[in-house]
Amino acid sequence: MRIDILTLFPGIFSGFLGESIPKIAVEKGAVDVFLHDIRDWSANRHGKVDDRPFGGGPGMVMACQSLVDAVEAVRDMAADPGRLVFLTPEGRPFLQAVAREYARDERLILVCGRYEGFDERVFEILRPERLSLGDFVLSGGEVAAMTVADAVIRLLPGVLGSPESAPADSFSGCILDHPHYTQPPEYRGLAVPEVLRGGNHAKIAAWRLEQALERTRRFRPDLLDPPE
Ligand SMILES: C[S@@+](CC[C@H](N)C(=O)[O-])C[C@H]1O[C@@H](n2cnc3c(N)ncnc32)[C@H](O)[C@@H]1O
Repeated sequence: MRIDILTLFPGIFSGFLGESIPKIAVEKGAVDVFLHDIRDWSANRHGKVDDRPFGGGPGMVMACQSLVDAVEAVRDMAADPGRLVFLTPEGRPFLQAVAREYARDERLILVCGRYEGFDERVFEILRPERLSLGDFVLSGGEVAAMTVADAVIRLLPGVLGSPESAPADSFSGCILDHPHYTQPPEYRGLAVPEVLRGGNHAKIAAWRLEQALERTRRFRPDLLDPPE
């Protein structure tokens, strides 16, 4: 898979891409991640990419020219135009099902906003998908892009150590993950459930399913009773 990220702050991504799963995924050749500084496409000699909002009010708005030119140029960097996604609070909510959908694609282009957001006309021109991380406001789309990239990358074949990991995670079906335990068998008087130490795989699987359902009922009953 190829992921392109357009941002005004590419430096934010260095830690994310240089550690753990994303780094391993790149090393294994499961994904290529390319960062693009939107400012590089500014036609303004000072590299200006934003301006004051028409109608007045606080803050700055990301202007059309550099954004549209950047997206069009990046899109042309590979034969597959890919899926174009703008991170923005009014977008459709990001869920595990969306991560699965994206992970099936060959290419994903993520565009990070800043300031008050994007000049609305970019949506009419580029026709991207709008994606939100949830009902809260971040300072910029970079953390959202990292979240999306991370959730997608760990689903790509061969990235996780065990192919059984991702399908067992919360939200892979319609329930949460079961509880996990590791060494020691007892800690501060709390023992690991006996069934997990017995070695009976069928019993362990049944216990885990029961626990996963119980946790879902307790913490996220809405998952078991989704709205029509
Ligand atoms: C300060 S926010 C702009 C918020 C905008 N004025 C609003 O109230 O909807 C700047 C950028 O952060 C990103 N952002 C903020 N909250 C987000 C969210 N919940 N999901 C995805 N991106 C978000 C978007 O890229 C946005 O353009």
